[in-house]
Amino acid sequence: MRLSRRAAGAAESATLRLSAELARRRRAGADIVNLLEGEADLPVPEKVKAAASRALAAGRTRYCPSSGLPELRAAIAAKLRHDNGVRASADGVLVTNGAKQAIYTALQTLCDPGDEVIVPSPYWVTFPEAVRLAGAKPVFVPAPGHDLDVDALGRALTSRTKAIILNTPNNPTGAVYSAVVLKDVAELARRRDLFIVADEAYEALVYDGREHVSVASISADAARRTVTVQTFSKTYSMTGLRVGYLAGEPDFVRAAARLHGHMTGNVCTVVQHAAAAALRLGPAYRARLRAVFERRRDLAYAAAGRVFDCLKPRGGFSVFADARRHLGGRFKDSAALSDHLLRRAHVAVVPGSACGMEGRLRISFSHSEKDIKEGFRRIEAAL
Ligand SMILES: Cc1ncc(COP(=O)(O)O)c(C=O)c1O
Repeated sequence: MRLSRRAAGAAESATLRLSAELARRRRAGADIVNLLEGEADLPVPEKVKAAASRALAAGRTRYCPSSGLPELRAAIAAKLRHDNGVRASADGVLVTNGAKQAIYTALQTLCDPGDEVIVPSPYWVTFPEAVRLAGAKPVFVPAPGHDLDVDALGRALTSRTKAIILNTPNNPTGAVYSAVVLKDVAELARRRDLFIVADEAYEALVYDGREHVSVASISADAARRTVTVQTFSKTYSMTGLRVGYLAGEPDFVRAAARLHGHMTGNVCTVVQHAAAAALRLGPAYRARLRAVFERRRDLAYAAAGRVFDCLKPRGGFSVFADARRHLGGRFKDSAALSDHLLRRAHVAVVPGSACGMEGRLRISFSHSEKDIKEGFRRIEAAL
């Protein structure tokens, strides 16, 4: 069969490939510590589960409007206004199958062949492929630290640049961009008439008393040119339930909804009722969540510091460890090192090369304290 160039050229997600490999090895009996995905081991909150059960029992199992349940879209808009200071209305919200689909749909709505999209690097593995699948070209700008070099972003712009992808809190670096930096990005976008695709999947996971800032909250102009993407996956441990959303100007969202309507129809109705219940949980839930992951971050950062150089993550679910002192000899590169850790030490981590930055390992601390301790013990022993 001759596949389309699009399908033939699409690279498999490195993390999904590694997860499948991990599952295969576990099925074969290997005892592997998973420090791979950004996926909390916490249960779905009881009230959320109960809402899903009630929706199922009440027969809320039909198609619903493809943009999402009206009450969920209204609740998301209220959450964006209240928690994130983003001017949002229900008709400017599209409910999607997770943030991943929201990003895909946003880029499909924005880009034409030949367009360029700025992707700060290292990046979440899906960004470059989502840009390419929209026919556009990812243009990488180094952003390895806690700050984003907005001048470097500016230098990467051409007449073909359509959008900037902004991921804060950042996967993999753990950076949380300040309002000052976001203001500069918003100003750059205004001057060069660009869109911003703001991936805020980890917005609830910021540490040391920091606050997440949404770029769409910076100004009315920033709100008009930003597509804000958030998800229930990370905040409510609902990864497998697949629900997230994009929010932006109603005209943009209506265009995105036209594509969404053909690509998938509505997100599972039962899950949307669960998502609405999640939004009713309130600030105490989020404070507890932050405390759990701040402890795990501390544990992982301290353990990583024994064998790698790394910046202390300020948000998100991963330590992005500089492993260069272990490379060049026994291990050619980060892929060889992560392969060794999986085969010999039985710990699964992501090679930095999959995130666009050689010499690093992305090590997730979204897993239990026991797994974090054991995983790093094995890594230390293997090096
Ligand atoms: C930065 C970032 N965006 C989006 C996602 C995907 O989230 P969802 O499960 O909502 O599709 C992830 C998941 O790892 C992520 O790290």
